[in-house]
Amino acid sequence: MTLVIRVDPDRPDRDSIARAAGCLRRGGLVAFPTETVYGLGAHALDPVAVQRLFEAKGRPANDPLIVHVSTFDQIAALTRSVPAEARALADRFWPGPLTLVLERSERVPNEVTAGLDTVAVRIPSHPVARALLAAADLPVAAPSANLFSRPSPTRAAHVLEDLDGRIDIVLDGGTTDVGVESTVLDLAHGTPTVLRPGAVTLDQLRTVIPTVVLRSPEAADGRTAMASPGLLARHYSPRAPLTLYEGRAEPALEALAADARTAMAAGSRVGILAPREELEAIRSMMDRPDPPPHVEDLGARHDLAEIAQRLYAALRAFDSAGVDLIFARTVSAEEGLGAAIRDRLRRAAAGRIVTS
Ligand code: TXA
Ligand code: MG
Repeated sequence: MTLVIRVDPDRPDRDSIARAAGCLRRGGLVAFPTETVYGLGAHALDPVAVQRLFEAKGRPANDPLIVHVSTFDQIAALTRSVPAEARALADRFWPGPLTLVLERSERVPNEVTAGLDTVAVRIPSHPVARALLAAADLPVAAPSANLFSRPSPTRAAHVLEDLDGRIDIVLDGGTTDVGVESTVLDLAHGTPTVLRPGAVTLDQLRTVIPTVVLRSPEAADGRTAMASPGLLARHYSPRAPLTLYEGRAEPALEALAADARTAMAAGSRVGILAPREELEAIRSMMDRPDPPPHVEDLGARHDLAEIAQRLYAALRAFDSAGVDLIFARTVSAEEGLGAAIRDRLRRAAAGRIVTS
């Protein structure tokens, strides 16, 4: 049985937090909201708890976890040394949606780091996450609270879709703010490198460390244990195959509409995902088929914050609707949250990308 406890996202009550913190201390699994997505927490220094976490998610053991803490001082015990760059980034971005990869100390179990010599750490800003971490007074390993390869959860209902009965507690604090996962920045291997784009953008990072680079998603770097998301073929995926249409709007929308029409003519149940302003154009290019396809509105084209917040819920809605094929349009912006949104959509497409 999974216990669902509703909490006020801004002022979670002490009893609910104490109950969840006690569960973590005893080696239990607690899902909780962060500012990015819901995390599934386990006592990071308890290898048995961490193993239970991998089992609950169905996550391969070679994919390391992020350790969440509530104070910067806790990081010293988890790492061999804390570089000046980490302190500078912490001053600017913590608490918040940035994860730092640092050299690990002996205290961190191999189960957490997948045997790597580094550990990923972050101080989240969501009041529920902060209250839970402070009350538990532990480092908490927390991947996104979804089954492996499924879209990350931005609501408690998404956590239950995937993990009901497999975990002990869900703290339901409503919809998460950012909607996509934290930026992962590697500070342990020479040039500071963004391994996963997220809410803290490259430009923001460069105001603190001008030399930061973005790792190209295709770059396989031979660090085999480091199954960071770029190395995984299928990730953040709805159940139905998703094809992504990139490039100039007009030809991309025409290609999308033509492919969707062909699929519907062949009897497939079709899902369409696009920014609000493009949906009407797609409908008319498809000659308004009857019955209509299942359409999910990604949000206003230029409101990247809205799109990030809606993205995973939209992908999950296609599962509930039971579509066979999804045709999706991406956003063009590379700046701000654009890079993270484009990255997640590309992974959901798992290589099915049509470029106009
Ligand atoms: O926003 C987030 O980061 C959310 C919330 C819950 O904090 N967590 C999250 O965790 O997205 P997860 O496990 O779904 O993604 C963690 C990513 C993985 O891609 C993993 O490969 C990478 O961080 N990672 C963890 N430890 C690493 C390490 N030592 N070196 C390189 N990458 C690492
Ligand atoms: Mg995840």
